[in-house]
Amino acid sequence: MKRTEFEGVYTDGERLYTRNSAPGKAVYGERLVSVDEVQYREWVPTRSKLAAYLRSGGTFFPFRRATSVLYLGAASGTTASHIADIVVEGTVYCVEISPRSFRDLVPVCESRPNMVPFLADATKPQEYSFGVSGADVVYQDIAQRGQAQIFIKNFKAFSARSGLLVIKSRSEDVSQDPHRIYEESKRQLQSAGLQVREVVKLDPMEKDHAMIAVGSP
Ligand SMILES: C[S@@+](CC[C@H](N)C(=O)[O-])C[C@H]1O[C@@H](n2cnc3c(N)ncnc32)[C@H](O)[C@@H]1O
Repeated sequence: MKRTEFEGVYTDGERLYTRNSAPGKAVYGERLVSVDEVQYREWVPTRSKLAAYLRSGGTFFPFRRATSVLYLGAASGTTASHIADIVVEGTVYCVEISPRSFRDLVPVCESRPNMVPFLADATKPQEYSFGVSGADVVYQDIAQRGQAQIFIKNFKAFSARSGLLVIKSRSEDVSQDPHRIYEESKRQLQSAGLQVREVVKLDPMEKDHAMIAVGSP
């Protein structure tokens, strides 16, 4: 297993992996591979948009060992758990609105001490700000209209340094050209004073999705 240019991300030359911080436990049926008594979890790009972003040529990767991450739209913890493997001395605050997904998220958080779950609405940071002691990075993957505005609100509320925002174009407007929607989201982020680093399309792994990276590394 070799290190990649991204801290905490490994490769066997073909697939991506993170070091499993809950050895023996898979989160979404991913392969577990042990090398020299260290266990790694395969990071599957068709299941995780952050892995798809790296596979699509994304270069902005603000996660370090001690980074605190506010994760909006954690669902059952697929991507959040890989981030938790990377930020081993930091915390991943996981916000999820759906009680059904939250039920699956809780056991994932129980086996990883640096993941903290909140059943809350990401459009209302006051619902979880009491439990978030600082967020260096905001990661957002929420399939609802107004994705850029929700991101801006949280980025400012927690005075984050950087962030990654998934834009699902069909959640903004099914009839619009996705490229225009990415441009409009970028414009909104810039008008709010955020520095856009790159916009990376995730097709074909995630059709009509892009990742927008903002802030300082
Ligand atoms: C595409 S899924 C996220 C997948 C996840 N990020 C991953 O990679 O493992 C989007 C999630 O956002 C949640 N969501 C939608 N609107 C939300 C809101 N306002 N606040 C919090 N979560 C929300 C949905 O319930 C859903 O679980």
